[in-house]
Order: sequence, then C-alpha cells, then structure tokens
Amino acid sequence: MGAHFTLHCDTSSFRINEKLLQRRTAWLMLQNHVADHDVSVLLVDDEEISWLNNQYRNKQGPTNVLSFPFSHENDHSDISHTIALKELGDIIISVETAQEEACKLKVSLHDRLTWLITHGLLHLLGHDHERSENEALAMWELEKDLISKLQNSRSSQMTHLAINVDHVATVRNARGITEPDPVAAAAICELAGAAGIVVHLREDRRHINDRDVRLLRETIKTRMNLEMGANKEIIEIALNLKPDMVTLVPEKRQELTTEGGLNVAGQKKKLAKTIQQMDKAGISVSLFIDPEAKQVKAAHAIGATYVELHTGRYCDATTETDREKEYQFIAAAAEEAYQMGLRVNAGHGLDYQTTARIAALDTIEELSIGHAIITRAVYVGLDQAVREMKQIVRDASIIY
Ligand code: PXP
Repeated sequence: MGAHFTLHCDTSSFRINEKLLQRRTAWLMLQNHVADHDVSVLLVDDEEISWLNNQYRNKQGPTNVLSFPFSHENDHSDISHTIALKELGDIIISVETAQEEACKLKVSLHDRLTWLITHGLLHLLGHDHERSENEALAMWELEKDLISKLQNSRSSQMTHLAINVDHVATVRNARGITEPDPVAAAAICELAGAAGIVVHLREDRRHINDRDVRLLRETIKTRMNLEMGANKEIIEIALNLKPDMVTLVPEKRQELTTEGGLNVAGQKKKLAKTIQQMDKAGISVSLFIDPEAKQVKAAHAIGATYVELHTGRYCDATTETDREKEYQFIAAAAEEAYQMGLRVNAGHGLDYQTTARIAALDTIEELSIGHAIITRAVYVGLDQAVREMKQIVRDASIIY
C-alpha cells in the first residue's frame, strides 16, 4: 500500500529525494481517504513523456504530467476476481519539464513535483479539468487547498536537534584539567546547526559544574535546556541562572546516567511547586517521563509545558519485536501528549540508527541527544558528527 516511485531518467544533473516525495504522496493519499490504496509514480524524461503523450493522447511534444487510472475492465487476471484490488493507477511526470517549470515559478524541483503529483492524484480520483471550466476551477482550488494544508500541517514542522554536551565535561573531569571544554563544544554544536544545548547539572557535579552553566548561559546563542533533579540547591541555581527551559529528571547518585523517567503521578505536589517557581521566573518546564499514558496525564495535570519522552527502552531493545513495541509506546504517548496541548520532546540513548523513526513522529518537537554524537565526534570531529545527525533528523522529519 502507498506510493511506489520509479526513476526512469538521467539523474546526473539533479538529486531526487524519493523518500521526501513518498512521504508527501502518502500524506496526500491520506487526505483524500485513499491511504489504503496503491499508486505508482514514474519519473521520466521529456522523450519518454512525449512518446506517451503521442501514443495515448494523440498530442505532440512533452507535457508535465500524465495520469492513467487503473481500469478493472482491462484486467482479466484471476486475482482481480477474487480480491478487491486497491490500485489507483499510474502518475507519470517528466522531471525535465518539472525542472523548467520550477525555475520559471521560482520554486524547488521537489515542490513542483509535489504539485504535479497532487494534480495527477486528483485525476486518478476522477477529477478532470478538461471536462468543463467549472471543473477546471474546482480542481485548481482543490490543488491549492491540499498544497497549502501540506505546507502548514504539523508533519511539515522540522524536528529540532538539541545536543547534550555533558560527556565533553566527563572527559575533561577524568583528567581534572580544563580541556575539553563543554562551553567551546556547545559553540561548535551551534555552528554545525544544533537548535539547542542541553546540560545536566547533577547534585554531585560529576560532569557539568557551576562554572560551565554560568558561561553557557552567557554564550549559548540558541536555547539552553538545563536538566536537573527537583532539589532545593539546584532549583535555586536554575532560578538565578534563568535557562530557556529546565527538564526535570529523577536523579540517583549511584546511577551511571538517568535511568528511568520521573514518577510524576507519584509526586505531583512537589513537582507542581517546582513548576510554579519556574513559571514565575519565566522558565518553561519539561518533565522527563516514560512513554506511559498515566505519566502524560499527570504531567498535563500539574501544568508542565513540555514532556520529554524517555526513548531508552526503544534504543536498548535487542529484538525487532521489542523495539517495535517500545516505538509504539512512544508514538502513542507522544500523540496523547500532543492532543492534550503539551509540547513533546524525546531523548535518551538515541544514535545514528535509532533516531530517524523518532524524528519522523510529527508530534515530536525536539530531540535531546548526547552520548552518540560525542562518541562519533571522537572519530570524525564534533562539527561533522553534529551535521550527520542533523541530516538524519531533517530527512526524517520534514515532509514539506
Ligand atoms: N534526555 C535526558 C533527560 C537525559 O538525562 C539524557 C542523558 O543525559 C539525554 C536526554 C541524552 O541521552 P544520551 O546521552 O544517551 O543521548
């Protein structure tokens, strides 16, 4: 089910992002209530579309798009008699003509291709601008409406990448000297495209320390997200520091890293008080929770602005079945939180393999990733490690 793309043209002068077109077509099919159907999209050159134009429409020269609805009348195979085939048909587009039109209209090739796919799909669904002026107008309005909805849909918002630089401080502290400096690392992350910097000021100061948060507050150009336990000393520091947001996490001295999410449901009073204190200081609060309905509801009830969904179990899963199960928990919790009006972030354990699926969830606004990026930076450099992750997040999350 879905859109199946075939490239039948020389791609040496442009790069077609098939995944992007596939996601946009899937979205268009969903809007037109045919998400459970198949459609084939063939991208050809002018020569091939000219031949088809001549053969099937008796017209000379190339055109931008042709649609051929699937006809059950011509299908005599046994299979079509036994099962209902959900075939819409074929959309054939000349990339050469689309490219010329894109230049004239000053839009990107992919945006022009999206428009032509929309046009072709509407033809397959029975609309025809050649039947009458009224139908031409109606089809044009439908196209415009679909494209504008696609541009403004929640799926068209890019997921942001915030980078946790705690482990730069871990390496520094291993030697007890001043290098590598998480403040310099944060600047490199921002220059490479990070949308925010995250640091966890732990009670035991095992990595990030008071000097780091002070300097980071002065130098971060994007957004500073201070992770912290809801304890008195750190709350005081946060209120003075005024980061852009804080993420409240459970903190145990013995743990290697934050192990599970907050039990919000079990400590509503204490957390609600911290949220109120932060609110008064103009600091948004996120609660780091396991992807469970009970925790989402509790976070909403006590007035959090954000939740950060714990992706650790999804990342640590050792079988595909378990990973799928954990992914579904995250997707469901994100949807529930989003529908309640909470803003949704996610993080913990995400790496270069596991990030794309989470970034593709259109309910999720920001990912917080640390260890995998700092690890990769050891091999390829921090700038490149950030850019590679940003590309993954971008490719997965944006459909327009
Ligand atoms: N989000 C939270 C709440 C965390 O505690 C951490 C770990 O510091 C992260 C995200 C980032 O996790 P990782 O370093 O595994 O990417």
